[in-house]
This record gives sequence, structure tokens and C-alpha cells, in this order.
Amino acid sequence: IDIYAFQQDLLTWFNEEQRDLPWRKDKDPYKIWVSEIMLQQTRVDTVIPYFHRFIEQFPTIAALSEAEEEKVLKAWEGLGYYSRARNLQTAVREVYEKYGGVVPNHPKEIATLKGVGPYTAGAILSIAYGLPEPAVDGNVMRVLSRILLITDDIAKASSRKVFEAAVRELISHDNPSDFNQALMELGALICTPRSPSCLLCPVRDHCHAFNEGKQNELPVKVKK
Ligand code: ADE
Repeated sequence: IDIYAFQQDLLTWFNEEQRDLPWRKDKDPYKIWVSEIMLQQTRVDTVIPYFHRFIEQFPTIAALSEAEEEKVLKAWEGLGYYSRARNLQTAVREVYEKYGGVVPNHPKEIATLKGVGPYTAGAILSIAYGLPEPAVDGNVMRVLSRILLITDDIAKASSRKVFEAAVRELISHDNPSDFNQALMELGALICTPRSPSCLLCPVRDHCHAFNEGKQNELPVKVKK
């Protein structure tokens, strides 16, 4: 794979075709954080109105830190997985008290926050802070499994590091934020779980699976 041409084709497509999503309006780490927590178990279309209301009600780290938990859970009502909201407030309070309200921009520090796993940490570090860190979720694993013909079982926890290593090889150091978001966007719009739209794909020339006609055989996901 010609990494530079791949980055160019992916980023050009993202610039032209990305959806207008509310958490893409600025790079406030707090807003990116809220959006990524909401998006973990909930679809984009469902998240959008919740995100708007939540940010209106709790616009800053200080506001969410000082809010009553009851009000936070009320704002989360309908999104489900309420431990996400509780953990988010706990972690935001820690940032408020321990880091002066500034979300840490170091992988080791951000990873200690409650509810912030490797995916969320990578998303905040790359999208908000522009650091070349991987943000690997199921969508990104599917996209990369096809492009690079990676046959590791994505249901296995140990496969994550294979995909993180792949992102570290491929990521644009000029624009890690758009690069990671472009992988997510490609997974959402083109490189879908079933019947991927390879004929519309901006990186099909770079895709090992497409070139071997194996896009429907990937990712490998062994049922438990
Ligand atoms: N899914 C997870 N994170 C996302 C993001 N930043 N944009 C779109 N979909 C996502």
C-alpha cells in the first residue's frame, strides 16, 4: 500500500463527503468526549438531539462537574447504559479537580479516567488534540480488515492491538483528527458490514480485499 496516496484519497473524500455532525463544529475536548461516550452504544441519528440538549444543559467541564447526578441521568434518559453517564460525570469531576478542568492530552493520563477506554482515549487525543493516536472501534476494524486483508478475529480482545498497530502505520501525521474520523465515516457510509459500496469507495484502489474480491468475507468475526 502506498500510504501517502491512501491518506490523500481518504482525506480528500472525507473533506467532500463527511456528514455535518454537531460534534464536528469545534475541537473542544469535552464535547468530543461527550459525543464519543454517547456514540459507543447508540446510533448517530439517535445521538444528535441528545448531544445538543446535553451540551446546552452542561456546556463545560465545570457545568457538568457541578450538576446534580439526577439531572445528568435525566438528560441521558432514553440513551440507555446509564453507567456511561455516571462514569462520564465521575471522570469529568476528576478532570475539574485534578487537572484544573483541562482534559489531559497524554495517553497515560487520559486512560486513567473512568469510562475512558483505549478507543475513547484515542478519539479525544486525535480529534481534539491532533495527536497521531489510533481510535479503533468495530467500524475501524472492519474497514482496516478489508483494506489490509487482516484476518485476525475481531471478536477477540487481543486483535485490537493488531489494528492499532495498523493505524499507527497508516495515520496522517498532518491531520490525525480527520484521518481517524475518515476511517469511521468510511465505515458508516461506504464500507458497511453487509454489501459494502466498493464501487463508490474512495480507497478501493488501495483495498486488498476489493482487489481479491474478498470484501464480503471480512472482517473475520468468530461467534461465541
Ligand atoms: N462513531 C463514533 N465516533 C464517531 C464520530 N466521531 N463520528 C461519527 N461516527 C462516530
